[in-house]
Amino acid sequence: MEIRELHKSFGDNQVLRGIDLEVARGEVVCVIGPSGSGKSTLLRCVNLLEVPTSGRVLVGGTELTDPDVDIDAARRRIGMVFQQFNLFPHVTVTENLTLPQRRVLGRGKEEAARVARENLERVGLADKAGAYPAQLSGGQQQRVAIARALAMDPQVMLFDEPTSALDPELVGDVLAVMRMLAAEGMTMMVVTHEMSFAREVADRVVFMDGGRVVEEGPAAQVVGDPRHERTRNFLNRILDPAAADL
Ligand SMILES: Nc1ncnc2c1ncn2[C@@H]1O[C@H](COP(=O)(O)OP(=O)(O)OP(=O)(O)O)[C@@H](O)[C@H]1O
Ligand SMILES: [Mg+2]
Repeated sequence: MEIRELHKSFGDNQVLRGIDLEVARGEVVCVIGPSGSGKSTLLRCVNLLEVPTSGRVLVGGTELTDPDVDIDAARRRIGMVFQQFNLFPHVTVTENLTLPQRRVLGRGKEEAARVARENLERVGLADKAGAYPAQLSGGQQQRVAIARALAMDPQVMLFDEPTSALDPELVGDVLAVMRMLAAEGMTMMVVTHEMSFAREVADRVVFMDGGRVVEEGPAAQVVGDPRHERTRNFLNRILDPAAADL
């Protein structure tokens, strides 16, 4: 995935001010940065939930920002998982996985059901196939959301703070699924404040502030020995929030 000179403004508010970023096949990149720095906007521009003001996004050599590209086909290359799981509340877990496959990919009933089963197994929720989202814990709902994205065979997965709406004891199961995906070679871009996950799983960490990439590098370096003062201040704040409040 390649992001080139990406700009996004909402009115006078310049939210992304020229982002250049590459994510290699199989690479896991974690994006960190303060609230309002443009992390969600970046992910939303990458899968064209927002239209960039300028700049280019390419996935697997196809330019998604090309005005002539088949936008629906392009978007299908990318799976997205949000902080709020965004499951369809009125249908079962299985139907959450089969409906998009049937509508968007045109898969038949049986194939969609088989792919749904396989992916629910992957996230450890085969036994919840017939449940409704409201009958699941937040962590289980998020794993269903991940399975739903995987069922679409994405080339890249984007995660926007996938664990920050969860009770602390449920975070681990979701991170375990993401760790498994990373180990399987999925290409991933993850906005997260889970620094231990970033340090352990990310190949690279990108620190954003004010709509720009301030610093990027190997996770151990950016998290363990940041070069820029803004990165250091941010990490101090999130690693020890109590101290920052004083
Ligand atoms: N649809 C929108 N319309 C107008 N302004 C928006 C829109 N989406 C985001 N913004 C603005 O863009 C800026 C960056 O928001 P964004 O959600 O990308 O930040 P973030 O880094 O994800 O923050 P957080 O850590 O709080 O999730 C904010 O000033 C926000 O108000
Ligand atoms: Mg955000």
